[in-house]
Amino acid sequence: MTGEIDRPTVLHVEDLLVSYGAVRAVRGVSLALHENECFGVVGANGAGKSSLLAGISGLVRPAGGNVSLGGEYVTGSRTEDNVRRGLVLVPERRQLFSSMSVRDNLLLGGYVHGRDRRVAEELERVEALFPILAERREQRAGTLSGGEQQMLAIGRGLMSFPRVLMVDEPSLGLAPVVVDAVVDALRELRRQGLTLLIVEQNVRLAMALADHLLVMEQGAIVRETGAGSVLSQEALIAAYLGGTGAGSLEGAPGGASVDMGEEISRSLLQTELSKGEQT
Ligand SMILES: Nc1ncnc2c1ncn2[C@@H]1O[C@H](COP(=O)(O)OP(=O)(O)O)[C@@H](O)[C@H]1O
Ligand SMILES: [Mg+2]
Repeated sequence: MTGEIDRPTVLHVEDLLVSYGAVRAVRGVSLALHENECFGVVGANGAGKSSLLAGISGLVRPAGGNVSLGGEYVTGSRTEDNVRRGLVLVPERRQLFSSMSVRDNLLLGGYVHGRDRRVAEELERVEALFPILAERREQRAGTLSGGEQQMLAIGRGLMSFPRVLMVDEPSLGLAPVVVDAVVDALRELRRQGLTLLIVEQNVRLAMALADHLLVMEQGAIVRETGAGSVLSQEALIAAYLGGTGAGSLEGAPGGASVDMGEEISRSLLQTELSKGEQT
């Protein structure tokens, strides 16, 4: 996949630090995400994954380092300004407005773009991608199933016209079969050209989607896919996550069917994981 290097870098994070008082949650993370690439950040609970996304999106002002989007420095910008620029976060636990309708939750995603005509067009596109959201248009978001709420949260993110969509734990609390549906949706978005940064405890999910995996531990990237020794998926799960969160994933490595997502998975399996010399 050397061709990807030729594509422009959309998101560049350099030596990012995020602290909450004395708690240093992110300790110098760097990454460069190219157009239409998908990075997965995996790691145990408390590793700093959400804090990384908070620092990138502007939810938390970084204590150090830089974030640039399409070559423009956006470090410490307000979240709303970043959303307008296309740096969009689908937060952990969805954070929907549960008493509002599905439709209104989606429209809130387009709110930063005001009366832009594209908002109506995007609404149609999102409802085509997730037909259940069209069916349940008037239903209160809080009454949707977990999987439907995740679709809605992703749909709301799409309504902001992301250049990079960051998704925090899309599989959280979902049954394996529902996780499969979420993975299918994210794959379809990639096919349509979206650039993704996915944070997950579910390594299988991350592997099924991502071109490149980063393993986060105590605020730092300690392993990443690249040159080095071969580390299998199972070994990765055992080493970092104690086997938790690994639902069956149709199309994940070891699965039978083959499409673009599987190709990514297969190349991932063949990809070697470096020994993490940076530690
Ligand atoms: N708002 C906050 N205030 C203080 N500490 C926090 C806050 N959010 C997260 N932390 C701490 O930062 C560390 C990383 O947390 P988090 O980024 O949520 O990890 P993850 O998403 O990988 O589970 C943890 O030690 C957590 O307790
Ligand atoms: Mg988290």
